[in-house]
Amino acid sequence: MNDILNRADIDQLILDFYKKIMVDPQIGYFFTEVVSLDLDHHLPKIADFWETTLFHQAKYKGNPITPHVAMHEKSPMTQAHFDRWVEVFCQTIDKRYEGEKAEMAKQRARSIATVMLIKIKNSESS
Ligand code: HEM
Repeated sequence: MNDILNRADIDQLILDFYKKIMVDPQIGYFFTEVVSLDLDHHLPKIADFWETTLFHQAKYKGNPITPHVAMHEKSPMTQAHFDRWVEVFCQTIDKRYEGEKAEMAKQRARSIATVMLIKIKNSESS
């Protein structure tokens, strides 16, 4: 198995991940009902995010927290939802990739999920 080496590998990973997550019994509805996603626009943005995170390419310019705070206001996001997101993301990586970047992606996903949930909780009181 290869490591995640370039943009094409990230695109493939994101495609695999969204195929699973959008039909996931626990959290799929966020992607299909809570938000109506234009995948042609959304998937390249997510790939930009991971290219920036893993390869320090300044592609992603947004703030990943904001849409999740807005989503939480429409439909509450819990620790269990984030645990599931991380589980599916890590399983998707393990199916196809192994190596330093693959490990880094899983580690970053876990730590960003932790920070995201804390910020979402904090947003409730403001
Ligand atoms: C239960 C957990 C999560 C769910 C259900 C979820 C779902 C979504 C959805 C539906 C959007 C589109 C929002 C919109 O356009 O209004 C989105 C955007 C995004 N998500 Fe998540 N997400 C979760 C966790 C995460 C985590 C842990 C990360 C990063 C490691 C992440 C990274 C992103 C990024 C980068 C965007 C694009 C933000 C932008 O528009 O600039 N998400 N997410």
